[in-house]
This record gives sequence, structure tokens and C-alpha cells, in this order.
Amino acid sequence: MSNRPRPKGTGKLVQADGARHARIWGVGGYRPERVVPNSEIVERIDSSDEWIRERSGIVSRRIAAPGETVVDMSEAAARDALRAAGIDASQLGAIMIATVTHPYQTPAAAPILANRLGSTCAAFDISAACAGYCYGISLANDMVRGGSAEYVLVVGVEKLSDFTDYDDRGSAFIFGDGAGAAVVGPSDSPGIGPTIWGSDGEKWQTISQREPWTQFHTWDGPAPAGAAIDQAPAAVSGIDRDWPAIGMAGQSVFRWAVWGMAPVAQQAIEKAGITIDDLDAFIPHQANMRIIDAMIKQLKLPADIPVARDIAETANTSAASVPLATERMLRQHEIPSGGLALQIGFGAGLVYAAQVIVIP
Ligand code: COA
Repeated sequence: MSNRPRPKGTGKLVQADGARHARIWGVGGYRPERVVPNSEIVERIDSSDEWIRERSGIVSRRIAAPGETVVDMSEAAARDALRAAGIDASQLGAIMIATVTHPYQTPAAAPILANRLGSTCAAFDISAACAGYCYGISLANDMVRGGSAEYVLVVGVEKLSDFTDYDDRGSAFIFGDGAGAAVVGPSDSPGIGPTIWGSDGEKWQTISQREPWTQFHTWDGPAPAGAAIDQAPAAVSGIDRDWPAIGMAGQSVFRWAVWGMAPVAQQAIEKAGITIDDLDAFIPHQANMRIIDAMIKQLKLPADIPVARDIAETANTSAASVPLATERMLRQHEIPSGGLALQIGFGAGLVYAAQVIVIP
């Protein structure tokens, strides 16, 4: 080693070069096989099919098989999205999974998914509940343009059935399971408009996991070392749920969504430099059909613009709701490739994100 004094402050960094613009290249989805109609839910909560349809718009939901995991569902949706995008997993620079129902604090689900896809790219989870997918699209857009990844896989996935108290009248009928995914990559023209996002943490108690993990210790014994994380956990004795449940103050959330989210959607339209008449689709978070209808009214959305109503058969799948609704509309040829869609996610935190995207 030289003893010469090193000159300080002269090192120069090279900046990563990203793409000028980014767009969604393809969207995919996975819906578990089992269809659960309202009639299977109502008895335990002294409700009725009519009440649930009228108050929420939900007719049925998909529920994952007991052994089916968040990673399994992510993999199916991811493969579908990669196929739709015409991209190989080896081209991915990053994988993000938006979820609140991967039942391990660590490791994240994304590296396990990356391994299943045969990739060693950057991989991490984001916790932004029902806004998670729209948060992910915003991050992916910045990553592609900032040069930290050429192609990014964004997955929204939930196995909410593990976290639902089927004796709770306020939430037993709301949630469903599923996964949606998108591949974001470089583009010649803008394909993802500016994201309007934020949080309203003052209202954190209106939707939350009821017990922290630290107060939930009914395991029969220590988990075996190296337990298979990508397999479903063993049942806990003494209760009929394996994990803490998610609770919700339905009316407060309803009011916040109805009055607070239309202005956020409106700002996303304005920041994208378009007017509402330029939209070819409206894909809001599938939380409640009445919330969707109230937003349409407040936005004065023209009647001929297709609106996602996947909630009827899918219920609220949190982070998976927007990509699953998009996948359905694409599959059923309801929305034009190359057209503009306004998407908005909102939920626990409370957090929200909206952006206008070019439909892949
Ligand atoms: N079945 C039958 N009756 C029910 C019921 C059920 N599952 N749950 C509540 N009720 C009754 C109540 O007891 C009440 O009766 P009352 O008028 O005699 O007192 C009545 O129905 C209305 O209850 P309320 O809680 O005001 O219902 P609501 O119209 O607010 O609908 C939700 C409940 C959950 C559908 C609605 O609040 C909602 O969708 N909230 C937002 C949920 C959401 O979006 N969550 C996720 C955000 S990401």
C-alpha cells in the first residue's frame, strides 16, 4: 500500500441511465378454484344473501385451498403476466410483492417467488394494503426511469381467508383471495402518469390486524427449524383461525373512501394532463359496489366509460383487487389496448394511490 496521502473529495460517481418513459407491458391474474357464495357465509353472522348483495355488491368470492400460499398464487399470476408481456423472468431487474397476508414477517415473499421463477433479481415486499399494487406501479415506474431495473414485476396478492373472522358481521363477507400481477418496462412514450399518493395515519385504527404477532402465541411448540416458508403453516390448536384477524370500522372507512378518494382520482387525471373524457376505463379498488358508484357520481364519469365491477364475483382482495379487475376487463375485451385507464387503490393505513396508465 502506498503511503502517499490520498486526495479527498475528488471521486466521481457514474449515474445509472434509465429509460425515458415506462409502461405496463402485461397484466396477469390468478383466481383460486373454490367459489364461495354468500349462502356459505351468512349463517354464522345472521345475515342474508340479499343484505350482502345490496350493501356491498358481493355475490361470491374465491377462497384459496388450505395448502395454497401467497407465494403459490403470486407465481401463477406472475407467470400469466410475464406471458402477456412477452418477457422472460431472466429479464427482470426487480420483483415487488404487495401483500398484507404473507404470514411471515421475514423473509419476504418476493425472494421466494424470484427463486421459483428462476431469477436472482432484487426482491422485496411492500405493505400498503389495498393501495399496495398502485404503490408498486408508482415505484416500478420510477425504477425503470431511474435505471435501477429494466423490467419490474409487481404482484398484488392476498390470502385474506386466513385473516378473516368468519363470526364478525362487519367483515366476514367482504374479503376474498387471489393474485394479480403486472410487468413494467421501458417505453417510447409516457405509459404511467404521475401518481397521487398519500396517507391518513390518524385513521389507522379503522382497519387493522386485531392482535399484534407478539400477543398471538398459541403455537403447540416451537416451529421446526427451517420450516418450509413457501408451504402453508400448520393450524394453531384451540381456535378455528390460524392467524390474527383483520378488523374494520366499516362505516368510517366507507365515508373516508366515498368523500376522500374521488378528489385523489381527480388529481391523478389532472396531473396526467388529460380530462375525464379521455379515459377508456375506470378501475377503482374493489371494496364495495356502493363506493364505486359514489365515486363515479362524484367524478361525473361519462356513462360510456367501462368501470371495473369485479367485486361481484371476487369480493375485496386488497392488493390483488386492481390488477385482478384489470385482468378480467382485458380478458373480456372490455377495454382497448393502448387506451387510458384511471386506477386507484385505498385501504388500511389509511393509505391511497392513484394514477392514469396506458392499458397494455
Ligand atoms: N348482515 C346483516 N345485517 C348487518 C350486517 C350483516 N353482515 N352487518 C351489519 N348489519 C346491520 C347492522 O346491524 C345495522 O342494523 P341497524 O340499522 O338495525 O342498526 C345495519 O345492518 C347497517 O349496518 P352498517 O354497519 O351501517 O352497514 P353499512 O351500510 O355501513 O355496510 C359495510 C357495512 C361493511 C358493507 C360497509 O360499511 C362498507 O363496505 N364499508 C367499507 C368497507 C371497506 O371498504 N373495507 C375495505 C377498505 S379497503
